[in-house]
Amino acid sequence: MAAGKGTRMKSTLPKVLHRLGGRALLGHVVDCAAQLSARRVVIITGHSAIEVEAACADMASRGGSFDLNFARQEPQLGTGHAMQQAVPLLADDGVTLVLSGDVPLTQAATLQALLAQCDGQRLALLSLRMADPTGYGRIVRSGPEASAQVRAIIEHKDATAEQRQITEIYSGIMAVPTRLLRRWLARLDNNNAQNEYYLTDIVKFAVSDGVAVVAHQITDAAQVAGVNSPVQLAELERAHQHRLAHAFMEQGVRLADPARFDVRGLLECGRDVEIDVNCVFEGSVRLGDGVRIKANCVIANCTIAAGAVIHPFTHIDGEKLGVQIGEGALVGPFARLRPGAQLGAQVHIGNFVEVKNSTLAKGAKANHLAYLGDATVGERVNYGAGSITANYDGANKHRTVIEDDAHIGSNCVLVAPVTIGAGATVGGGSTITKNTEPGGLSVARGRQVSLPNWKRPAKQAKA
Ligand code: UD1
Ligand code: CA
Repeated sequence: MAAGKGTRMKSTLPKVLHRLGGRALLGHVVDCAAQLSARRVVIITGHSAIEVEAACADMASRGGSFDLNFARQEPQLGTGHAMQQAVPLLADDGVTLVLSGDVPLTQAATLQALLAQCDGQRLALLSLRMADPTGYGRIVRSGPEASAQVRAIIEHKDATAEQRQITEIYSGIMAVPTRLLRRWLARLDNNNAQNEYYLTDIVKFAVSDGVAVVAHQITDAAQVAGVNSPVQLAELERAHQHRLAHAFMEQGVRLADPARFDVRGLLECGRDVEIDVNCVFEGSVRLGDGVRIKANCVIANCTIAAGAVIHPFTHIDGEKLGVQIGEGALVGPFARLRPGAQLGAQVHIGNFVEVKNSTLAKGAKANHLAYLGDATVGERVNYGAGSITANYDGANKHRTVIEDDAHIGSNCVLVAPVTIGAGATVGGGSTITKNTEPGGLSVARGRQVSLPNWKRPAKQAKA
């Protein structure tokens, strides 16, 4: 269900498209369905339906092999009315799992357990005890013990003072045989405090039809918590990051502080990986064995091979092309690696060095204040402080090739397209516009002029 408005978000973005861990809330729910090998997913849309449906097309392409459908609910007359729009798209031989697009942290194992309780024949409700159940639907049982039969769900607004004392609430998640759901939805009415068609009224139909109703009670409130406001979104983001951080630590990853670690995508770590505080990982990132990420790095779409060290305040974003960092490479502090940067083994990239769409072969070094764009850099090349490739002529980009063992002095401009021959040396301050000979020295700058005993101009006395 994703038709609701989400007024309390106070945002133009539809609520279910707000992001948690870098993924839309609704995306988390769809991923969960994919993990359960759902046959079909029906998303009920209403408010901002076009935007939500467009965003979902992308989710489906990432997810499992289910068949994705939309059911429009306009206007929104309650959760039962929402399900009435979806049920024509569902097959009678299946079980329907009802989920909310704004409840992102439900775990697949929990839903598996709920489906097992349903077992193709019972109505299975996911429930939870809450110290303050205000606002939620209450699970009404035939007796006080937890083992007593479930008789109904009564919405808070319809509940008597006595029913409001019940602390077991309905989470909004249920599993129900589709053929029964279809029959019960046809019997709903809106004679209640909110004049809505309540999905929760099907419980009393199940009871009157003699179908068993079970409440599967869990204790982890985060799994059924919905997002209604920016505060709740931030709370669930922390809960999610905490869960991820703990899973990584269980795997052996050493996090300096699990509370200062954020993954907004997919992170894979080898053995003996260390991650210092305030690092953010986005998109798809792979860290090989023994990789160390120092404090305050932002790393997106990048593969880092074994033993490499990323020093503090480094920003890496491979976007679509990706960034590759070879074994034992040293990057940063304050380095910037952009799409298509491919660093070989033992490459050193130092402070204030930017690399874009360039390959650096084994052992090449650019340690200070430099730019390498559209360059092919050979093994053991030393690229001096302040040097840049002038790769863009205002219209087109051109390549710079620096062959093995070349030495580029400080503050050089290599005007592409240009090739620096193997083992060649370029004198500091040169602007190189022509290819240089292997093994030769090229200097392209004004010659130094020195005048002895130079007298500086003196101030003239005022008249
Ligand atoms: C519902 C349950 C309540 C439960 C609570 C858990 C009903 C009648 N009540 O409460 O027992 O404790 O969830 O959070 O089901 N939606 C639509 N169309 C609608 C109405 C809602 O798609 O016409 C969607 C919302 O976008 C949301 C979900 O259904 O994703 C739940 O709606 P919400 O209004 O939050 O639930 P309540 O009715 O308050
Ligand atoms: Ca709600």
